[in-house]
This record gives sequence, C-alpha cells and structure tokens, in this order.
Amino acid sequence: MRYAGVIFDLDGVLCSTDRFHFEAWKQTAREVNAPFDERINQRLRGVSRMESLEIILGGSPLSLSEDEKLRLAEEKNERYRALLKNLTHSDLVPGAEETLAALRAAGVKLAVGSSSKNAVFILERLGARELFDAVCDGTMILRSKPDPEVFLKAAEMLGEAPRRCLVVEDAAAGLEAARSGGMDCAIIGGADMPFEPEHRIDGLGELRAIVLG
Ligand code: G6P
Ligand code: MG
Repeated sequence: MRYAGVIFDLDGVLCSTDRFHFEAWKQTAREVNAPFDERINQRLRGVSRMESLEIILGGSPLSLSEDEKLRLAEEKNERYRALLKNLTHSDLVPGAEETLAALRAAGVKLAVGSSSKNAVFILERLGARELFDAVCDGTMILRSKPDPEVFLKAAEMLGEAPRRCLVVEDAAAGLEAARSGGMDCAIIGGADMPFEPEHRIDGLGELRAIVLG
C-alpha cells in the first residue's frame, strides 16, 4: 500500500457544490459593485468564507465595516444553504462510493479535509458521512488552506503520519496546503496549478491504483 490514509477535499472533489458557491457569491458581488466571473471564482476554492469575501471586495469601490462584511457573508451563506437543500445522494461524484469502499476494504483510512463550515451538512445530504473515518472541517480550524492545518488535523484524527497520507484536491490553495503539510497530492481535473502535484487524475476511480499500487 502506497498510502495509509487518504484525505479528500469536499467541494469540487466529492461533489460539485462550486456552482452553488458561484451563484450565491454572484449576488454579493453585484451588491458591492465588484466584478465576478469563473476566473475570480477559481480563487475562492478552498478559501474560507470571510477570506473569499475579502477577495471579492478587492474589486469593489466600497469600503465596508466589519459588521457589513459579516452581514454580506451571512446572507451569502443563507443563499448557499438554500441551494444545498437540493443536494441528494446522486450528487456524490461518479465512482466515489465504489472507490471509497474499495480503499476502506484494503485497510486505508479515509477522511474529509474541508475549509467549509457546511461540510457535515453537505455530507449528510449526500448520504456520505458514514463513508469516512473522520471529518475535519472549517468549524475545527483557525487557518484555512493554503495553511495545512485542516489536513494535519485530519491526519491526526486518522492516527496516520502526514507523509503516509494522500490529499485529493481540486484547488491551488489545497495543493499548497498539502505540500506545506508534507503530504502528496492528487489533483482532480486539469486546472492550472502553481506547481505540478505528485498525481493528476480525471476521476476518483483512478485512486485505487495510486493508493494501493
Ligand atoms: C470550500 C470551498 C470554498 C468555500 C469554503 C468555505 O473550501 O471550496 O469555496 O469558500 O469551503 O465554505 P463555507 O461553506 O464555510 O462557506
Ligand atoms: Mg475544493
């Protein structure tokens, strides 16, 4: 076995909630007169809610108080949670359930490592909470990706050393977090990264060969 533990990012890896984040932030951007498109949305991946808001506000002519920022973040989250209500088991990405079961059967420990404070809610909607030995999310950390805290804590929850864990990510912030935590990383999809990850995959099904090979 090449890795004893696998730590999965949630948004963009196990399900595509990114389109909901995009929709919910679009309205915020409109309210503060800031530009917003797919390219800007990419920069929000893996980054906490308040840091995402700061990125959007970077394009706004307004200067807002802390209270106004909190209100915008709260309203975005309400829109996002309303969209999440539509999630069902069928939104778990293809191949996830089979792959996770095969890895677990081989004795590999599995965790979720997400910056989201909605991670448990999402996993429950997907009916996927039971597929993991541990969930480390945005409610348990002080610093979000690219800081490695969420992955280091997930590895600790699994009882595995970071260098024996593989991180599965879709975002540059997540790749950087894995690298500074001393973990290998598999990037799903072909997005540009600041440096090449140890593995590139097109689907979760490819993890079997990488982890068990
Ligand atoms: C994930 C997403 C980010 C999002 C963050 C916080 O990492 O990729 O785009 O900003 O979670 O999500 P939350 O659900 O707490 O607002
Ligand atoms: Mg992600």
